[in-house]
Amino acid sequence: MGVLQGVVVMIERTFSMVKPDAVIRGIIGEVLSRIEKKGLKIVGMKMIRVSEDQASRLYSVHREKPFYGELVSFIRSAPVVVVAIEGESAVSVMRRLIGSTDAKEASPGTVRGDLSCSKSMNVIHASDSLENAQKELAIFFDEKEMLSYERLDAKWVC
Ligand code: CMP
Repeated sequence: MGVLQGVVVMIERTFSMVKPDAVIRGIIGEVLSRIEKKGLKIVGMKMIRVSEDQASRLYSVHREKPFYGELVSFIRSAPVVVVAIEGESAVSVMRRLIGSTDAKEASPGTVRGDLSCSKSMNVIHASDSLENAQKELAIFFDEKEMLSYERLDAKWVC
């Protein structure tokens, strides 16, 4: 919970990942800048190669799907940037910011709608619920890797 302009708001933490296609294409900065410009606060960030264990935990709900093998090998094919994000209704705000899973159908103005045409190489992941956000953050971050600070523009952007 937080207080913004005298109003009590629910501050959430969510998980996001800039996927291998975006890293290889050199658009990490473009993707992260959209998150920052929206007014969300990046409170943790690192470039990693996803381990087999991390991939199987992240994609456990897709284990029985026909594309599971392809999904795991893609996410491990190059480095990714994992990001912990904080803000008012951060989970739903991030989901709207990134757009539909199939980037061909994602609305213009969203990250996927503007930067991809693919369902598998769709630039960015963001948790789809608060419960999954907590699970996914725990896969990639220790509590001490998420830092606390105030954004100077907080009262102007939300
Ligand atoms: P994301 O929501 O970040 O995490 C699960 C990913 O599975 C999803 O993005 C897509 O990239 C991928 N995915 C979903 N459906 C398919 C599909 N039918 N074929 C290939 N990849 C898919």
